Formats: sequence, structure tokens, C-alpha cells
Amino acid sequence: MSTVVIIGAQWGDEGKGKVTDFLAAKADMVVRYQGGNNAGHTVVVEGREYKLHLIPSGILYPGKTCIIGSGVVIDPEVLIAELDALGKRGISTSNLKISQRAHVIFPYHRRLDQVEEDRKGDQKIGTTGRGIGPAYMDKSARVGIRMIDLIDEEEFKALLEMNLEVKNHLLTAVYGSEKFDFTEIYGAYRKYAETLSGLVEDVSVIVNEAINSGKNVLFEGAQGTLLDLDHGTYPFVTSSHPSAGAACLGAGIGPTKIDRVIGVAKAYTTRVGEGPFPTELLDETGEHIRAKGGEFGTTTGRPRRCGWFDGVIGRYSARINGLDHLAITKLDVLTGLEKLKICTGYIYRGDVLNEFPASLKVLNECEPVYEEFPGWQEDITGARKISDLPANARKYMERVEQVSGVPVAVIGVGSQRDQVIVVTDLYQA
Ligand code: IMP
Repeated sequence: MSTVVIIGAQWGDEGKGKVTDFLAAKADMVVRYQGGNNAGHTVVVEGREYKLHLIPSGILYPGKTCIIGSGVVIDPEVLIAELDALGKRGISTSNLKISQRAHVIFPYHRRLDQVEEDRKGDQKIGTTGRGIGPAYMDKSARVGIRMIDLIDEEEFKALLEMNLEVKNHLLTAVYGSEKFDFTEIYGAYRKYAETLSGLVEDVSVIVNEAINSGKNVLFEGAQGTLLDLDHGTYPFVTSSHPSAGAACLGAGIGPTKIDRVIGVAKAYTTRVGEGPFPTELLDETGEHIRAKGGEFGTTTGRPRRCGWFDGVIGRYSARINGLDHLAITKLDVLTGLEKLKICTGYIYRGDVLNEFPASLKVLNECEPVYEEFPGWQEDITGARKISDLPANARKYMERVEQVSGVPVAVIGVGSQRDQVIVVTDLYQA
């Protein structure tokens, strides 16, 4: 039996979809455990590109059970559109199960997300505007509506009435925005409930049964550790827990059931939205990486901010998530650069900081300490073994491993499913 958690070790968009998809080949079940349609995974299979926001990328393999856990917030309209799009391309979604306990996103969550961002002005977080934060706020405030409530007509009516009364008052009196109409939302969401009700299950039972019967189960995190509500660059974070600990809560399993945790990081760093980013490149090299790496958000299309690999973040992620291995993606994007840099520490007011600070004031003042490396010019997209890589690429990867303090198990050298170097078989490790 093997249970593997895959998390983003940076600010999200590390290419977890590709790594999950690749590892899903040997998995029996893939579980998504937090976040919502703020996430976006792009997976390329046989030259066809699939963009997934809610459904685990394991769906692209026939016969795998895919689970959306209780830690996820679900916009049913988006989920149904995703199911339809997969269906049209001949991908079966009959093995998808959705947690009864997952919370539902409503139009008032999206509106509240936007009006709150507008209110913040230049202090805005740069959210994806998908209503994620307000939906998790309702969950914590114990007024949220879960999938099990949505599919119960009477329960849903009462909960929606109660919520709309408060939300409409908040939207009009505090934000000067418009009211929502009960009948419209009720009608639309009753239809969504009919479409989705057959998929709604107690998924904790299903996941535990799979683990107990020796199946390979993959837990797929969305976003990244530095967007974690507890451990990220607060308040410039998302409202869920992308770090590994959340896999247990978001799937309904105990910590004793996890065998291995894999952190996915790009061979460089990116972030979207606002907030500090010590190794950000605001020059031509940053532009070059953005263009070559296609660094534009899957969900919002926003250009991603690009920078050098940050070893302080690597070590921090290793600690927060208990990483066993790293999967480094997009090494091929660095091909052609004359010089590369890796950040090994930060200087704050003359002192070296080896650990990632909690204070954003401190982080904003940190100057990265860099080591410089010669680049490589050879095309590496055909490399399938470490020894296929040019010496400079191998040296660069060795240093990434050393500064992060975690062995690298997988290296991505292109967007196709098979463009990977497997250093360690993660189901055997
Ligand atoms: P929210 O999750 O939409 O509330 O956005 C909060 C912050 O997380 C913003 O900086 C977003 O850009 C960022 N974020 C949310 N989802 C993703 C993702 O999948 N990749 C990268 N950044 C994300």
C-alpha cells in the first residue's frame, strides 16, 4: 500500500497537475482535498491540453476513482461545465465522487470577494475573484451550505433564505452593492443539485476503504505552501490549507495513513497576485522566463511574476510539509540562459536569515543571497535519465537539492506526460 500527498512547495502553479497526472498512472485513487476553482491544472496528454479546476487530473486515466474531499469548496456551475467538457472529449467521469461535507460557492460569495477587494484598494490581495475566501468564511462562521444540504430541497431552501437575508443586507448597507434574488439562485442551484446528487457520497468511507485494502492513493493539493492560511505570506494567502497536513482533514483520514509527502517546485519561482516575493526578477530575465514558461494563470490569465529559485522557501516548505522528496518542474524553461541564480539565504538589516520570516515587514526588507551558476544551451526536453542532462543542469539540480535539504525524485523537462526524469520511484521509495 502506498499513500502519497503531493503539495505545491512555492506559491502555487508549480506544475502539480503534471506530476499528479504522471503519478496517477500507478494510483488507484486520486483525492483533491482543499481549495476550489481558484486552482487550475493544465495537463497535456497526447498533444491535447486539458484545463481542470476542480476535478482531479487522475480523471484523464480510465478506471481511477477521483474524489473531491470535504476540504474543497465547490462552485457547482464550474464543476458541471468541467464534467460536460470532459464528456465531450470522450473522457468518462463516472468514477468521480464528491464529499457530502464539501461547501458550496454561491454568487454572493463571488460578489463579496470582488467588493471586498475593491474596498481594500492598493491593499488588495489579488484574489482570483471566484468567491473562495467568502465561502470559507461562511464555513468557519458555521452558516455555510454543504453538498449534503444542497441536495436536500427543504434544508437548502431554509439555509439559502437565512444566508440571503444577511448577505443582501451586507451587500447593500455596507458595500453599496446590489441584492441577489432568492428565486433565481434557488432555481439554478436546484438544477445543479439534480445533476450532481448521484455523485455526492461520504467520501471519507471510500478513501479509508481504499487505503485499508492496500490501494495506491494520491492526495492532490492545490495552490502552494506560501499561500497557506496558517503558513503562507499572510494576509496574501488563500483561505484554505494547501500544505500537506490538510490532506488528512480534507479527505477524512488520519495522519497515520500517510506514507509519503512530495513537494512540487518549479526550477525557478513564480507568484500571481499581490504580496512579497524576494527573488522576483523585474527585468528581461523575468520577462524571458514568463514568455518561455508560458507563465500566465490557468484560471485568470494574469501574467505570473517570475524569479529565481529560492532555497529559503525550499527549506521552509520541507519543514512545514515534512517533505520526503521534491519534484522539480520546468527545468527546460531555464535552457538558454547564460547564468542562473539560486537564493541560499536572506540578508535582513545586515544579518543572514536562514529561515523564512513570519513578518511581512521583515520579508519585504530581505535581500536574497545568491549563488551563481553557468547555464546550458542544449535542448533537454528529450532527457529521460539524469545522465542525459548537460553537466551544468546536473550541477544546478544538485544545488537545488542541497539548499532545500530534500532529495529530488522527479524532474520535469517538458509539458508532455512522458517528459520527465524519474530519479526515484515514489511508489517504491
Ligand atoms: P483566492 O484563493 O482567490 O482567494 O486568492 C488568494 C491568493 O491566492 C491570490 O494571491 C491568488 O492569486 C492566489 N491563488 C489562488 N489560487 C491560486 C492558484 O491556483 N495558483 C496560484 N495562485 C493562486
